[in-house]
Amino acid sequence: MPPRAWYAASDAARLSLHGTWRFRLATTATAHDESFARPDFDDSQWEDLRLPGHWPLKGHGAPAYTNTAYPFPVDPPRVPDENPTGDHRRVFDLPGDWGEGPAVLHFGGVESCARVWLNGQELGHFKGSRLPHEFEIGQLLRPRGNVLAVRVHQWSSGSYLEDQDQWWLPGIFRNVSVHRRPRGSVVDHFVHAGFDHLTGTGTLRVECEPAGRVTVPALGLDLATGESATAPVRPWTAERPHLYDGELITAGERIPLRIGFRTVRVEDGLLKVNGRRILLRGVNRHEFHPRYGRTLGPEAMRHDLVLMKRHNINAVRTSHYPPHPAFLDLCDELGLWVVDECDLETHGFAQQGWRGNPVDDERWEPALLDRARRMVERDKNHPSIVLWSLGNECGTGRGLSAMAAWMRERDPSRPLHYEGDRSCADTDVYSRMYADHTEVERIGRRAEEALDDPELDARRRQLPFLLCEYAHAMGNGPGGLSEYQRLFERYERCQGGFVWEWIDHGLRQRTPDGGVFHAYGGDFGEELHDGNFVCDGLVFPDRVPSPGLVEFKKVVEPVRIEEVPGGDGATCAVRITNLHDFADLGHLTFVWQYAVVGQSRGHGWLEVPAVGPGESAEVTLPRPPAPEDGAGTGEAWWTVQALLAADTPWAEAGHEVAWGQMPAPVLPPPAPPATVRAAPRRGEGNVIVLGPGTFDATSGALRYLDGVELVGPRLDVWRAPTDNDEAAPWQPGPRPASEWRRLGLHRMRHRVDAVEAGADALVVRTRIAPAATDLGLRTVYRWTAGPAVLRLEVAVEPEGDWPGPLPRLGVTMAVCGSLGLAEWFGGGPGEGYPDTGAAARVGRWSMPVDALQTPYVRPQENGARPQVRWAQLTRGDGSGLRVEGDPHFSFTARRWSVEELAAARHTTDLTPGDRLWLHLDHAQHGIGSQSCGPGVLPQHRLEVAPARFSFALSTLE
Ligand code: GAL
Repeated sequence: MPPRAWYAASDAARLSLHGTWRFRLATTATAHDESFARPDFDDSQWEDLRLPGHWPLKGHGAPAYTNTAYPFPVDPPRVPDENPTGDHRRVFDLPGDWGEGPAVLHFGGVESCARVWLNGQELGHFKGSRLPHEFEIGQLLRPRGNVLAVRVHQWSSGSYLEDQDQWWLPGIFRNVSVHRRPRGSVVDHFVHAGFDHLTGTGTLRVECEPAGRVTVPALGLDLATGESATAPVRPWTAERPHLYDGELITAGERIPLRIGFRTVRVEDGLLKVNGRRILLRGVNRHEFHPRYGRTLGPEAMRHDLVLMKRHNINAVRTSHYPPHPAFLDLCDELGLWVVDECDLETHGFAQQGWRGNPVDDERWEPALLDRARRMVERDKNHPSIVLWSLGNECGTGRGLSAMAAWMRERDPSRPLHYEGDRSCADTDVYSRMYADHTEVERIGRRAEEALDDPELDARRRQLPFLLCEYAHAMGNGPGGLSEYQRLFERYERCQGGFVWEWIDHGLRQRTPDGGVFHAYGGDFGEELHDGNFVCDGLVFPDRVPSPGLVEFKKVVEPVRIEEVPGGDGATCAVRITNLHDFADLGHLTFVWQYAVVGQSRGHGWLEVPAVGPGESAEVTLPRPPAPEDGAGTGEAWWTVQALLAADTPWAEAGHEVAWGQMPAPVLPPPAPPATVRAAPRRGEGNVIVLGPGTFDATSGALRYLDGVELVGPRLDVWRAPTDNDEAAPWQPGPRPASEWRRLGLHRMRHRVDAVEAGADALVVRTRIAPAATDLGLRTVYRWTAGPAVLRLEVAVEPEGDWPGPLPRLGVTMAVCGSLGLAEWFGGGPGEGYPDTGAAARVGRWSMPVDALQTPYVRPQENGARPQVRWAQLTRGDGSGLRVEGDPHFSFTARRWSVEELAAARHTTDLTPGDRLWLHLDHAQHGIGSQSCGPGVLPQHRLEVAPARFSFALSTLE
C-alpha cells in the first residue's frame, strides 16, 4: 500500500499482534520451503518467540557489530548464502465487535526484509527496516483462526542501504498490527500549521483524502479539509511546545490531532523558526535498549526525552533512521527540535573507493525514493520535525538528488539536511561532523575554504551551519564542549549541533558467576567487528547519565550566571543572561547560597527582573554574614541557581536548570600555630623518622604515617588510556595512547640517586624514566614535618626532548582498603578533567570510594575530582588520612591499580583488592574527542615542563 501518515489513535479499531509467536531459525534463506505459510502447517516443533524483538537477543543466533564494514562480501545487490532466516507464525482472532470490511496489516519495522502470507495467501514482501509497510487484507480476514506467516531474512539488497554504525539485529522489532479501515476512513492526511510571528497568527489547513472536517475547539475553528483558517495562536517551539487538540472527522473515521503552529525557514543565512534564529543543543539518538536492541517501549522513549529535557537538550537527530513514531509524538509534546533522518547509509562503500555506491546508481533510485516517501509520509504531521535528513554517510550521487527533489515537492515547509555532500547541492543547511574548533570558527565567519565550483561555493557560504555530529562521547569525555558552545554563541551562522551520541549500545550480559556487564563488538565472536566503538553515548547502556551528560547540561544551560567583575570586595553582583531563543525567564526562580568551606551559611531568593531572550541583567547579592555571626572562616563561595518555578511534564518545580558560582572574599582562618620543623633522625632498623613519618633509609620511601601503613607516594605519569587517548586512526596527528606506550610511560623505572637527611628535611633525589630512551624526569621529593603533619614538595625537571604531552603528573600511593569513605573540598560531585570540568562545582563532598568510580563500558581512566583543596579517606569511625594540596590538586581513589584498570576489557574484570590506590595529581592531560574527532585543545594539553607542587599529609584520629 502507498505510505501514509501515522497516527497513534483513531476511533477505527486496531488489533496489536504483539506477544508470543511461533518461530524457527534457519542458517540460509533456502533451507525450508514455503509450506510453513499454510494455515494447517504443524509448528508444534518450533519455539516460542515474543515479539516485537530481535531473534539474536532471544537466544537464536548472535548479534554482530561493525561500524562501516559490511559483514558480507560487497557485491550488490547480492547477499551471502549464509543468511539467517526466521520463520514466524501467529494465529489470531478478531475482537467480537470488529465488523466487516477493509483492513490493513501494518508492520512498524522489520530488519531487513520480509515475505508475508495471511491465511495461506501471499501478500507480498518489503524492505526498508525502520520504515512502515502495510498490506490491504480485509478480504482475507476471518473472525477466528487467522494465520499470519512472516519469513524474515537478515540480509537482503536492503542491507546495502542500511550500513549504519550499530549492531546488526534482524527481526520483527517494531509492532505488527491490524487496522480496520471503515468505508470513508482517512486514506492520508497532511496537517499544515504555520505561524506568522509578525501578526501572532497561525494558519491551519489540513489536506485529507477523503474530504472531511477539522475542529479545533480552543480556537473556535471548524473548517472543511482543504480550507485554511487563520487565528491568533500560541506558537509551538521546543521551549514552549504548545499543542492544540483538534479532530479530523471523515465519513468513516475520527482522528485526534495535536497541532503545533510553527514556521521553519532558512533566511538571512540562518535557520529560523517563527522568525528567530534557533540554537541547537542536540544529541544524536539511536534507538537502543541493552536487552531489547532497537525494540523500545513507550517508557524507554519517554525516559530518554525526560532525561534530555532535564539536561537542557533541545534537539534530537534521529540517527540514522526514522524512530518509532511514538517517539515523535513525545517530541511534539515535550518540546524538541527534531532532524528526522531517512533509513539510508552506504558507508561500507567508502572502503571500495565508493565504487558501486547504490546512491549513485540509477537502478537503486526507486529503492531510495521509496525510503524517502515512507519517512516523509509517515512523519509529516509532527511540528517537532524541523529538518528532513536524506540519510547518513552514503557519499554523493544522483539518488540523493532525486530524494531531495521529491521531498521538496512533497513538503516545501521543511529545509533539507545531508552531511555527506560538502557541496550542499541538495541541502538547505551546511552540515559537518567532527569539524574542529578552528574550522568551525572559520565557518562561523563565513570564511571557510572555497569549493571548486564558485556558484555552489557562493550558495553554501550563505547557508546556516550546524554540526550534525560533534563531541564524540566515547568513554571518558567528550572534552572541548565549552569551547564549541562559545563559538555557537559568538557566530550566528553556527547554530549548534548534535553530540555523538545519546546512548552506549552495550548489550547486557552476565558472567558465569552472575556479574553484569555490557558487551560490545567482538564479544559474540564476530569475524569482523569494531570493538567498543559502539559505546559512545552520553548515557550508559542502562540510561544512567555519564559525566559527559552532566557536563553537556552545564555547557548548554539556557541561562548564564556569572560574576560581574570589579566588585568592591564587600558586595558581589551577578550577571544573568537569558540564552533561550524564545522564552523569558518567567518560568524560573533564582536562589542564592553563601557557603564557607562548602558549608552553607545563608541562602535566599534572588529577585531577577524579567529578562527577554538574548538579554541580560545585573543583580547584586546580599551582604554575606560576618564570621562573628557564625559564618565561619576560610574559603567562601556564592552559588546562584535558576530553578523551575512550576512543574513541567519533564521535571518538577525546583529542578535546577542552570547555576553559577562566584568566589567571595576569603575569610582568613585563624593564624596557624608557628610551625616547628622536626629534624629527621635514624630510627630502629633501616629507617629514618621525620615527625609522624617513617621512611625506608635506602629508598627514601614513606612507609608509615603515624602508624598508618602506606606504599608511596611516588611520581606517576601513567593513566589507563581513555578511548579518546587511544584515538581514531583517521584523525591527523599522533594517537596519544600509542605515543605514550611507544615511549614506555606505562613502564617507568624509578631510580633513587640520594637520600639526604638534612637539618630539617629529608630529601630524596630520583630519576624516573622508561627503558630504551634517554628521556627522563628528575624528581626531588623534599619532606618536612610539623608535629602532626608531613609536608611533601615534589620538583620535577624533565630531561631530553619529549615529543608530546604526558597523561598525568602527580604522585600515587597505596593505603589500607578500610579507608573506604572519601570526603573533599573542591570540584565535585562528579569527575572532571581539564576540558570536561564545567560541571564541577566547588563544594564539600563525600561518598564511598566505590561511588567515585565511573563505570565506562570499557574500563579506562575515570573518577578524578578536580580543583581539590583537601581530601580525606576515612573508616567508619572517622580515623584515616588527610591530604591538603598546594596548589589545588586532582584526586582519584580506587580499589585497583592503573595497570589493572588498563588491562580490563569489561567492568566485571575489575576486582577490588585489599588496598586503595590514591592518585594526587598536579595536572592531567585533557580528554578531547579524538576517538572520532579532534584531539585535546592546546590549552588543555599537559606539556612536559618543570613543575613543582606539594601536599601536606596527616592522619585523622
Ligand atoms: C559518524 C557516523 C556515526 C558514528 C560516528 C562514530 O561518522 O555518522 O554513525 O559512526 O561517526 O561513532
